[in-house]
Amino acid sequence: MPNPLDSLKALGDQLRAQIGEELDLDALRRQEPARPLEELLEELDALPGLESVKEQVRALVAFLRVQARRKEAGLPEVATTQHLVFLGNPGTGKTTVARLLAQMYRSMGLLKRGHLVEVDRAGLVGQYVGLTAIKTERVIRKAIDGVLFVDEAYSLARDVDRLDFGDEAIETLLKRMEDSRHRLVVIVAGYPRLMYRFLESNPGLRSRFSREIVFPDYDTDELVEIFGRFAAESEYTLADGTEEALRGIFERAERDDSFGNARFARTLFEQSLNAQALRLGQGDVDALTPAQLKALVPDDLVAGARALGEEPPADRQPRSPWFGRRRA
Ligand SMILES: Nc1ncnc2c1ncn2[C@@H]1O[C@H](COP(=O)(O)OP(=O)(O)OP(=O)(O)O)[C@@H](O)[C@H]1O
Ligand SMILES: [Mg+2]
Repeated sequence: MPNPLDSLKALGDQLRAQIGEELDLDALRRQEPARPLEELLEELDALPGLESVKEQVRALVAFLRVQARRKEAGLPEVATTQHLVFLGNPGTGKTTVARLLAQMYRSMGLLKRGHLVEVDRAGLVGQYVGLTAIKTERVIRKAIDGVLFVDEAYSLARDVDRLDFGDEAIETLLKRMEDSRHRLVVIVAGYPRLMYRFLESNPGLRSRFSREIVFPDYDTDELVEIFGRFAAESEYTLADGTEEALRGIFERAERDDSFGNARFARTLFEQSLNAQALRLGQGDVDALTPAQLKALVPDDLVAGARALGEEPPADRQPRSPWFGRRRA
């Protein structure tokens, strides 16, 4: 017998879904005009690092523009799919670039809305038979006229011998990617190695994605530059010696699969702000000048890194050279 609580929950989900879709319609009505393509390309160019990504995005944009002109001139459309694979470790800028690309599609007139809907396995896969198709359809409906970004897409394909609803999500996606190919761009993203396995796991998958864009890890210089951008955006300044401290922290951070790249730079920045506040809070806060309020000093960064487990605790061998991240 069905559990009455389950049907109540299903009703709740249904209501939430309906309300969610109405809110989306509101967003559509209020949507701002498309940003010019040139402006979007400049914003992409201004991102530190990502040189090979920028090149590939420019090539893709050029191709799409020519195809659009061909169509206007009455020439046949080349039957290619627009769906993309983003390969890269966490924090390498995949979501950031996907969001810009979605807006580029819009300014080229290829997608009406150019918004980005980001989902992972939990957003697509349900707990019982039939629910996955409903959930996936709902997400696709939200993403239509924009980009559907499936993060860690490989987690949809589980062991072949296990009954898994991820396959249902993949089948539903594949079908809608084909049927709605003029109104939906799907980007699947994740760790390179696992993504290759995922693409090989289903014969329909590989052929549906025309291009792969590889997001390399950031090197120390790029991370320093990215940190500098976070600081500048929030009106913080880097006092003398701060850049060297920063460089040291990034160099010592352990670069394994779970290294957070720009995401690590962001959390380090946030932790450094906490450290700065603690330092400033020891004096007369009301008397602080704007310059003092803005300045991050090397100690703030070291304390920030320590809060992230990246530097030795303050009470341990203060004079010895720093070592890398403590292993769990
Ligand atoms: N080149 C860059 N310049 C400036 N900021 C960046 C850059 N790349 C990433 N960031 C910032 O780093 C953070 C993580 O980036 P993003 O979410 O785009 O990465 P991701 O590859 O999607 O990571 P994840 O796999 O963890 O979702 C964001 O705050 C983003 O603004
Ligand atoms: Mg992301």
